[in-house]
This record gives sequence, structure tokens and C-alpha cells, in this order.
Amino acid sequence: MRDFFREEEESVIIEDEKYLLPSYLPDEVLFRDREMEAIAASIRPFLRGKGGRHVYVFGPSGCGKTTSIKYLSLQASRLFGVVCAYVNCWENYTAMAVLNKIVESLKLPLPRRGLAVDEMFSRLLHFIKHEKKRVVVFLDDVEGLKQHSLIALLLKANESSSHFLLVTVAQSREWLASLDARIRSMLSPYEVPFAPYNEEQRFEILRQRAYLALRKGSFSEQLLRKIARYGTSARDCIERLRAAAKKAEERGKAKIEIQDLEDSAPTYFDVFLSEEERFIVSLLQSGPQSTHAIYTAFSQFKKLTKRQIRNYLALLEEKGVVKSREEKSTKRIKPKTYFLVAGYEKGGFDNK
Ligand SMILES: Nc1ncnc2c1ncn2[C@@H]1O[C@H](COP(=O)(O)OP(=O)(O)OP(=O)(O)O)[C@@H](O)[C@H]1O
Ligand SMILES: [Mg+2]
Repeated sequence: MRDFFREEEESVIIEDEKYLLPSYLPDEVLFRDREMEAIAASIRPFLRGKGGRHVYVFGPSGCGKTTSIKYLSLQASRLFGVVCAYVNCWENYTAMAVLNKIVESLKLPLPRRGLAVDEMFSRLLHFIKHEKKRVVVFLDDVEGLKQHSLIALLLKANESSSHFLLVTVAQSREWLASLDARIRSMLSPYEVPFAPYNEEQRFEILRQRAYLALRKGSFSEQLLRKIARYGTSARDCIERLRAAAKKAEERGKAKIEIQDLEDSAPTYFDVFLSEEERFIVSLLQSGPQSTHAIYTAFSQFKKLTKRQIRNYLALLEEKGVVKSREEKSTKRIKPKTYFLVAGYEKGGFDNK
């Protein structure tokens, strides 16, 4: 009789997919020693009980910002026993959500509901002062934060003694420039730019990941070189490799070939973009579009507010799939023109 509970067939190409997933934190962060040293130098005095300096990390999508700060956060909490609170501000975009994350990292038993922001914060501060705790708050993707007042709240609490050190992470300098002048001057962070990786660096990062995740002999150096040439960032390269590996397995092959890479580009979109994001990509495949044209096209597809659509556009920009150019206008929210980043026009490879 058929064995219905047999082990799933062993995969012939992917040995351990976790090394190709966005959630994986590499043991070694390549090519970022200088940037990580600069961030650490700003935090170090704070870890030792002194002032330290807030940090502003910025650089394009997929260039290792999140990876680097998570690595530093792990090291800092292991070495010095300080509390490190990591918050992704796309996911936690209100002041309350960020506070909840800080409370969580302090393992404070405060009620999650029913408290106003001010009350929650004053209880948090009371605890921190009483227990003499110091917290490094890593605000990743800080552009997502809707309430800048949270930053003012944390900085004001530092006036008497320094309780919080902020490491803010964004894709460009724009966010810092957009801050209210008073908050910006209280923050006056040490700025650490992250440049995009060059092709050779993308190749090295990809190779390291390929050897961890894939079976020996299932990929060639030529394949990795091709991905590194076309990929727009480290993330993009790793995701393309994963999609190609899946495609080759689906075809029952033991080795990934260039053809699998090219054919997997559409699945790449299926796996990594939401329905709304894919809709925008398909619109832009026929050429650049204005914000207004995108709003209009959306009304045929799904009822969303302009703000929601702009959020999806910002996400796509963050993922390095689209770029935008601001048009001249006297309006508060300036209209933009959006276009696809080279290499995505036909789902991946054809146009480069
Ligand atoms: N220097 C590196 N060494 C090893 N892996 C890296 C390195 N830089 C990036 N990666 C890998 O590339 C992917 C993207 O990196 P990461 O999430 O840190 O980028 P990011 O700069 O935070 O991008 P975004 O602005 O989109 O959030 C991750 O899978 C990460 O493991
Ligand atoms: Mg990131």
C-alpha cells in the first residue's frame, strides 16, 4: 500500500531555504565594516553610561542597512546588557505601536490597551529611571513613522539624563530634512551613508548565500555572475536566485540553468509583490505614469484612498522596483512621475 506519511521527497537543489529568506540574518555582514564601525563608535559611549550620539543611517533598498543594525543590536545587547529595541516603522507606524515595541523589549508588564500615549510613556519613563535602564531604539524604515511626536517625546526625556539613544534608518536624507526644525536640532544625528553594492560585492554576497543554501553542484559561478550583473541590490540578487532554484526544481532538474533564471522572473513578482504592487508594476510596464494617472487606473481595480496608493508606491520604491521624480507644483503634496527601475520592465532580464 502507498505510504501516505512518507517523508517529503528531499529537494535536489535547495538544501536549506532559510539562507535565502529575507528573515535570515547572516553570521557575517560583508563589506560594511566601515559603516558598522561608524555606527558603533556613536553608540559606544552610551553603552558605557555616557551620552553617545544619535545616528541616521541612509541608503538605497537592499544595501544591508537592516542587516547591519540588527547585527549591531544583537552585539550591543550581548556585550553590555543594555536594552535594544528594534522597531520596523512600516509595520509599527503610530507612536503607540513604537512605544509598545519598546515596552516589549524591556519586558515591562504594561497593559497594551486602554492607556493613552502620554500615560504609557510616563509609566515607561518611570520604570526606566527607577531601574536605571538605558535603551538603544533602532527605528528602521523610519519614513513609515506617521507621528514624529514620538521622536520628540523620546528626545525630551533625555534632557535630564540620557535614557534613549536613537538609531534611525531611512532610504535617503529626505526624511531627516522633512523633520520639524526643532526635532531635527534635538536629534542632530551622526549621519552614516550606505552606498549601493557594486557588481563584485553583489556577487560575493550571493556566492556566500548560494553555498549555504544550495546543494553542491546545483549552480555554477557563471549563473551567480549573471544574477549579480542584473540584480539591483543584494536582496534582489538573493531573491532571484531563490526563484530560479525553485523553477529548476519544479522542472525536476538537479542544476539551475540560465533558462530557469530568465523564466522565473515573473514568479519573482508573484512571490515578492502584493496584488496591489503587481497592479502598479503592470501599469508602469507600458511606460512612466503620473501619480494622478495611477490613482485613476486604481479606481478600475480596487477602491483605495490616495494615501493608501501612495503607501504602495512608497513600498515599491523601497523595494527598488520603481523610482519617482517630483514634478514642479505649488501643491502641498507634489505630483510625481513613477517609472520602473531598469531590469524590471519585463519582469527581470530582457531589457538589460
Ligand atoms: N553585507 C551583506 N552581507 C551579507 N548579506 C547581505 C549584506 N547586505 C545585504 N545582505 C542581504 O541582502 C538582503 C537585503 O539586505 P537588508 O534587508 O539589510 O537591506 P536594507 O538596506 O535594509 O534594504 P531596505 O531599504 O529595502 O530595507 C538581506 O537578505 C541581507 O541578508
Ligand atoms: Mg531594511
